[in-house]
Amino acid sequence: MNSQTLREARRYEEATEPLLNPAERPSFHLASRVGWMNDPNGFSYYKGQYHLFYQYHPYGPYWGPMHWGHAVSKDLLHWSYLPAALAPDTPWDRDGCFSGSAFELPDGRQVLMYTGVMKIPGANGEFQEFQRQCLAVGDGLDYEKYAANPVLDGDDLPLGCSRTDFRDPKVWKKADGTYRCVVGNRSADGSGQILLFVSENGFDWKYEKVLIKNDGRFGKMWECPDFFSLDGKQVLLTSPQEMLPRGFEYHNGNGTLCLIGTYDEDTDTFREENDQSIDYGIDFYAPQTVMAPDGRRIMIGWMQNWDTCTMREPEQMWYGQMSLPRELSIRNGRLIQKPLRELEALREDKVSYQKVEVNGEVRLNGVEGRKIDMELRLSPVEGEPMYRKFAVRFAQNDMFYTALSFRPQEAVLKIDRKFSGSRKAIIHQRRSLVQGSESGKIKLRIILDQCSVEVFVNDGIQVMTATLYTDGDARGISFYADGAAQMDVVKYELKI
Ligand code: FRU
Repeated sequence: MNSQTLREARRYEEATEPLLNPAERPSFHLASRVGWMNDPNGFSYYKGQYHLFYQYHPYGPYWGPMHWGHAVSKDLLHWSYLPAALAPDTPWDRDGCFSGSAFELPDGRQVLMYTGVMKIPGANGEFQEFQRQCLAVGDGLDYEKYAANPVLDGDDLPLGCSRTDFRDPKVWKKADGTYRCVVGNRSADGSGQILLFVSENGFDWKYEKVLIKNDGRFGKMWECPDFFSLDGKQVLLTSPQEMLPRGFEYHNGNGTLCLIGTYDEDTDTFREENDQSIDYGIDFYAPQTVMAPDGRRIMIGWMQNWDTCTMREPEQMWYGQMSLPRELSIRNGRLIQKPLRELEALREDKVSYQKVEVNGEVRLNGVEGRKIDMELRLSPVEGEPMYRKFAVRFAQNDMFYTALSFRPQEAVLKIDRKFSGSRKAIIHQRRSLVQGSESGKIKLRIILDQCSVEVFVNDGIQVMTATLYTDGDARGISFYADGAAQMDVVKYELKI
């Protein structure tokens, strides 16, 4: 039986969605149905299609009591909304159904494991928040909260583990049919840690151990963990809060972290080997992965960041979108991200140019657009000195543009959306070091979808993601070089 809170949310989203203007929305990125969206949740393949749930406050373009929005897709690009799946309607989650994941039971039902939030007024008038892990069981459309919720609470934790920062369970099933889950937690020293829990049947959960400790290395609390094997290695993805910058690798504030190492399943021991950022742009956070039926590990992130999500107008009826789904692999100890290959089926109207010499500003016939897939291969011109700077400007008209610029001497690629229409003093630029690009050779695959840009560098060795606030008629693209550079350009419209 759906609660009144959920029925109201479903009625509201159904009545409000037709008022939104599709022309101002992304086409192949999932955006909130109405109101606010943050983290991807319950990313799964269930009953022949992908399900993606998300942190959702339908009633306005701002964070509020968290529901779970719900959408389904066959190819992760054409999405259909389903009615909201969860609402904050039980004592355990009355202040929000926070992030979590999904798994399938042997009998075919789907379980959503999420964090229930409850705030209790303390003696001093301040509220104390409790975060507990809860379940809801359903059929891909309707989910019933488990009567014995919560399945994990503070009493399940060893001393020193926070009961307030205890959230975002990510579950997986082992080959022997038992379940494991990782949950983000704060340890007594204030820094993050990832806890591991075990269950025989998916309903009764037990604490196993601290899987990984932050020990003050990468920010403080670690949110939204994901843990999986990939190409013979083990990967932990998490989103640390309160990061300090480190070179060009990590930036201040809410960041993303990928630890690559090995995992001994018998002793549940993770040994770290490398660390890196997941995304080097401005707007990417809290990613979650799914294993596709063909074995690909696919990641989707919230295409925003808590530190930069103030660029919205009160009358706007939606806010928040997901990144492009990205295929993950590991090469030379690094996480490689490639745009989902299904995207190629959306390509139309190919325009291509070879060996275009750029020295000063260049525009190319047919190279423009706001929903495009464009690949640039850049190199120095033979016999000429190395160019000092190359830039491509897009979403451009007389007033606006967003730019990617590259300086080979420094091996630095910069994204700059200062002139993208933003009216807030949020971060507008970010720089990234591109290993090996001192040669002046660099490959950039730039994907635009009306209000966003994602740049895949050198076949996915790095990605830079940013949201744009630019009027829809700013469609121009121009190229610029200080010194002589040469480029190949292939550009497609992406049509859904
Ligand atoms: C990450 C996060 C999660 C939490 C959710 C609340 O963006 O803070 O840790 O579950 O958002 O909406």
